[in-house]
Parts: sequence; C-alpha cells; structure tokens
Amino acid sequence: MSELKQRRNVSRVQSSTPAKQSHQATGDAVLTNRSAWWRIVIRIMLTLVALSICLSFLITETAFWGHKNKWTNWRNYIPRKQRVFTQLELLQYDGTNPEQPILLAIEGDVYDVTLGSGFYGPGSSYHLFAGRDASRAFGTNCLSRNDHLTHDTRGLSEGELAGIRGWHRLFDNHQRYVKVGVVSLDPIDPNSPIPPPCDGAKAKPV
Ligand code: HEM
Repeated sequence: MSELKQRRNVSRVQSSTPAKQSHQATGDAVLTNRSAWWRIVIRIMLTLVALSICLSFLITETAFWGHKNKWTNWRNYIPRKQRVFTQLELLQYDGTNPEQPILLAIEGDVYDVTLGSGFYGPGSSYHLFAGRDASRAFGTNCLSRNDHLTHDTRGLSEGELAGIRGWHRLFDNHQRYVKVGVVSLDPIDPNSPIPPPCDGAKAKPV
C-alpha cells in the first residue's frame, strides 16, 4: 500500500473515533435546532402578517391599514414587458375604444389608468390627458387650451416644472395605476412658438 493511501486510511479511522462522532452529532443537533427555530420564527411572522391583514380588512376595508401606494397593488408584482409607444400609437389608447386600456403619459412615462376611467374615460373631466403626453398642462394647470396638451415644457417656471414632477410621482406611486412603458416623443422644434400662458384664467376640468 502506498504511503499516501495509508495516511488516508489513518485519517478515516481518526475521524470516526467516538469523540469525533459525538462532536459531529452535537454539531448536527445544533444545526437542526437552529433551522427548527427559524421555521418557528418564520411561522410566527407569517401568522402575524396574516392576522394584521385580516384585522385591517375588518377595520379599514383595506389590506394595509388604509395605506395605499404602488406596492399595495398586486399588479405591480407581475413582471411586465415595458413597451415603447409612438405618439400615434398612444393616441389609440385614449379610452374611446372600450376594448383597449386607457393610457396616459407624463414626462415620457406611460401609465395604464384604466382603473381611473371615471377620470379619464370619454366625457370625463380629465379625458384630455388620455392617449397623450400632456406634461405641459400638468405644470400650467391649463386644461382649456389645446396647445398646452403637449410634452413641450419650454418656458415653464421652476414651480410649474416641479408641479409636473409632482403629478409624475402621483402616477408612479398610484395604487391603481401601473407603468406600461415609455413614449418616444417627437423632438420640439426650437423655432416653434412657445405656447402662451393660460390668459390668467386658472383652467378647470370640464
Ligand atoms: C377647479 C379646479 C379643480 C377641481 C375642483 C378639481 C377637483 C378634483 C377632484 C375632486 C378630483 C378627484 C380626487 C379623487 O377622488 O381622488 C380630481 C382629480 C384629478 N385632478 Fe382635479 N381639480 C381641479 C383642477 C385640476 C387641474 C387644473 C388639473 C390638471 C393639472 C387636475 C388634474 C386632476 C387629475 C389628473 C385627477 C385624477 C387623479 C387620479 O387619477 O387619481 N385637476 N380633481
């Protein structure tokens, strides 16, 4: 027998000595205890979460104690392919075709707002936002001029631009809406006239 083989046999004999075996058994028991302990902790936590959801439903009729944002919307946990729309394609989703979802865009991001059809469907107050990126109107609050229903934000004040970002955040964190893609916006001709302000009249929804 070669010297190497002999050494391996000796080490095998050593590892199976009673002392070593008992040490291994203790180690295994610690591991088993630890995993059993973790299983108990996880079970307790899941029970508490389930209990909280049930109580929340009973008291607030919502799953998370009235707290609503995009993470309390199960639709946001479904991975979905983000689509790139042209402006013309987006226009087909303005709610006039009941077979299609209602989409709107802000600062180039496209959201499915079908669950807000009471706001954006045909004949509703904010239908003019459907099927397009009307970022400018979100900033100027001007709903009475068609030339504000554009992604052209030239000439807007810091406050108006912040207003657009605020609306953008609203759609992004909305409990009922999901982001479905982006719209590839036509570049704005720098020589075209900047839409004039809303004649001082604060625009109102129809
Ligand atoms: C006289 C002025 C206005 C009044 C009284 C008014 C009133 C309202 C009310 C009561 C809601 C429903 C809120 C809810 O139930 O969640 C709403 C939603 C909305 N408003 Fe106005 N609004 C006015 C002006 C505007 C303007 C100028 C804009 C455009 C920037 C605008 C954009 C919106 C949008 C986009 C929603 C829907 C939000 C969603 O989808 O959850 N509103 N408004």
